[in-house]
Amino acid sequence: MIKLVVWLLVFPVTVTSVREIPYITAHHGENGQEIYKMKLSFPNIKVHEPDQYICYTRYLAELDEVYVLSTLIEINHEFIHHADLSFCEEPEDFASHRPWECSRSRKYCKGGAVGVYFFDAYYRSEVGKMIYPKDVSLKIGFSTIMRHINFEMHTKAAVTEVQYPLINVTLTFIKTPTKYNFQSHLLLTDGFIPANKEKGYFAEVACRWDKPDVVAYAVQVHTHHVGYMADAYRVRNGTWTLLASQLTQGKTKVLVPVPGGFIDVRQGDVLAAKCLYIPKDNKPVRFGESDGQEMCNVDIQLGYEFKHETSFKRSSACMTQHPKFSFCDHEVTSGICGDNRKVNT
Ligand SMILES: *[C@@H]1O[C@H](CO)[C@@H](O)[C@H](O)[C@H]1NC(C)=O
Ligand SMILES: *[C@@H]1O[C@H](CO)[C@@H](O)[C@H](O)[C@H]1NC(C)=O
Repeated sequence: MIKLVVWLLVFPVTVTSVREIPYITAHHGENGQEIYKMKLSFPNIKVHEPDQYICYTRYLAELDEVYVLSTLIEINHEFIHHADLSFCEEPEDFASHRPWECSRSRKYCKGGAVGVYFFDAYYRSEVGKMIYPKDVSLKIGFSTIMRHINFEMHTKAAVTEVQYPLINVTLTFIKTPTKYNFQSHLLLTDGFIPANKEKGYFAEVACRWDKPDVVAYAVQVHTHHVGYMADAYRVRNGTWTLLASQLTQGKTKVLVPVPGGFIDVRQGDVLAAKCLYIPKDNKPVRFGESDGQEMCNVDIQLGYEFKHETSFKRSSACMTQHPKFSFCDHEVTSGICGDNRKVNT
């Protein structure tokens, strides 16, 4: 009888054991910890025209609760311009568990969501590997908030014959939590760069951090054609600490680690960024996603403690309107301001 009870208790664990699934492999890492790898592929599809966005959402049926240490995205460069990887709680009703055309609505998650990696054949020709730093991982699996994995691909050529998988994703994970869970926070701009700014225009973004304390460890910046550089800072009591500063024209290295490693961000701090543009003619340039528009996107990668999970179910964002917003108009950010006045006199 006792044996049977034990067997009943053990059985559910056995069926969900990742060890039994053939496409999951395990090996021992440093200090003997078991490290697993699972490879997932975008289903084979035909795409009749180039320049399409195709999405695919898959339930993580084989993982109950695991902690991702790194992700590897391999794309077929002949057909794919970019691939985007994220996890979410529930797909929207229009989303499907089969690949679907998603250019019109790319917001396809309800509840929790986390963007993991944007891999672009143009910006990064090297292999799309992303490794979380020590102490940071991403909790995913069917008994967590992040139960689905989403692939998004932007095709550059029609796919008329069924190819080998156009995208493969390999997740490397462990089964015990690290100190921090991963999420990101985005700073971005709306509005426009005014006309006659050929000498330069700085778009500034700043918001108070009101969530629980986190550590920031890397920043990804993005501008389009007339953007030249982007800086990100933590402002605490008038002291500006640089998180990242990068030229954005070369676009060779878009995810930059915070100098010196983790930096803490506490309630009451301000996260700020500014981007420099040098427009080529005297027309205004709108902020937006398309190629002829501009962006000042500063994506800050964070680690938070698991007890604060409900505050970090989705990545957060801070957006300012241009040309209205200026560091000069706010007491906490007025310490570094006036650049637009200097370049436009
Ligand atoms: C994905 O993996 C399969 C084998 O599992 C391979 O045949 C295919 O070429 C891979 N695709 C890419 C884009 O790496
Ligand atoms: C800012 O400084 C004041 C006093 O100098 C201190 O009480 C407060 O905690 C500081 N704020 C932060 C976020 O460090």
